Amino acid sequence: MSSKHKILVIGTGSIGERHLRCLQSTDRCELAFCEPLESRRLEVAGRYGIDSNLAFGSLDEALASAASFDSAVVAAPAPFHIPMGMQLAAAGIHIMMEKPLSLSLEGITEFEDLVNSKEIIVAVGYTHRAHTAMIGLKEKLDSGKFGRPLELRVDLGQPFAVIRPAYADVYFADPKMGGGSIQDMITHFYSIGDWLLGPMDRIVTHAKHQALPRVEVEDTVHSLADHGGVMATYSQNLTQAQNEVTTTVICEGGSIRADYRKKRVSWITEPNGEWNHEPYEMDDIDEIYVRQNNAFLDEVEGKGKSLCSLEEGIRTLKVNLASLKSAETFTWQELS
Ligand SMILES: NC(=O)c1ccc[n+]([C@@H]2O[C@H](COP(=O)([O-])OP(=O)(O)OC[C@H]3O[C@@H](n4cnc5c(N)ncnc54)[C@H](O)[C@@H]3O)[C@@H](O)[C@H]2O)c1
Repeated sequence: MSSKHKILVIGTGSIGERHLRCLQSTDRCELAFCEPLESRRLEVAGRYGIDSNLAFGSLDEALASAASFDSAVVAAPAPFHIPMGMQLAAAGIHIMMEKPLSLSLEGITEFEDLVNSKEIIVAVGYTHRAHTAMIGLKEKLDSGKFGRPLELRVDLGQPFAVIRPAYADVYFADPKMGGGSIQDMITHFYSIGDWLLGPMDRIVTHAKHQALPRVEVEDTVHSLADHGGVMATYSQNLTQAQNEVTTTVICEGGSIRADYRKKRVSWITEPNGEWNHEPYEMDDIDEIYVRQNNAFLDEVEGKGKSLCSLEEGIRTLKVNLASLKSAETFTWQELS
């Protein structure tokens, strides 16, 4: 009998297909998937050599079939995450849940209770925690060599319309489907702030649609926040020419910076001194999804920890909601 994980990927749009490909590359899984769009289902089954009796039209069909699953990846749009999570948890299936966990707090306590009573693993797909640059930054911060953190500055932007040409035709265009920069993009970095510095206490956000064609959702977001006394700024746009992500933590004894475009982690300790650079190789973005999914499989096997727990995913959901409320009301929002 095979000792591989039997995994169901739910939704094979842009990220579901990536999960399928990355999980296949680990050689640790037997894969099945569900995808309601028939043409897409046939295309994906063909591309990854998945038998037609393991390519389902819906989650209900998959769960009612003769196939059995140990784990599932939920990669359908966000309004489906919690309802699907409840079905999977009821069946005792471990879950790798795409971000954001949900779009409201409805059903979250029930989901958490069911997950705990069924003793299943739930990880949330805040992928940047698996990025080589962020791991390097966190290692340096956690080493304690730079002293107490004082300030976090996250600055990102990208030509979204070029990088993600289908954006206006998918969930991104509609906040009720998980769209807009707050729920879709800057949420990754709120989660990074939580991972580096601990939970956020309060946030104020200014967000607007500035220029991204064919949508009305916010494409530019500026948030100020406080994580247990550490001040943070998060700024993001979907309009600039270059794809850049720079994350800097200023500590009492120096600064540490992760720079995706320059592919390096840098640090400086001497006032007016020079930055030190540690370059890294990352040829393919799939690497971070493989790392994230291997960590999830390790936790399922009882020999490691996922990179973002359900508890952390819930905290970031609350931050998203507070950020949206702040942008609407121009007020600071407290997080309990
Ligand atoms: N972690 C990351 O880096 C990352 C990147 C992109 C998207 N995401 C998240 O992943 C989720 C999906 O995003 P996407 O970009 O793949 O969207 P997408 O629109 O490209 O794909 C969604 C897929 O889900 C399918 N689907 C819709 N309803 C379904 C249902 N009831 N059952 C099964 N499948 C269903 C659609 O047919 C489609 O193929 C979103 O929550 C998004 O925020 C995460």
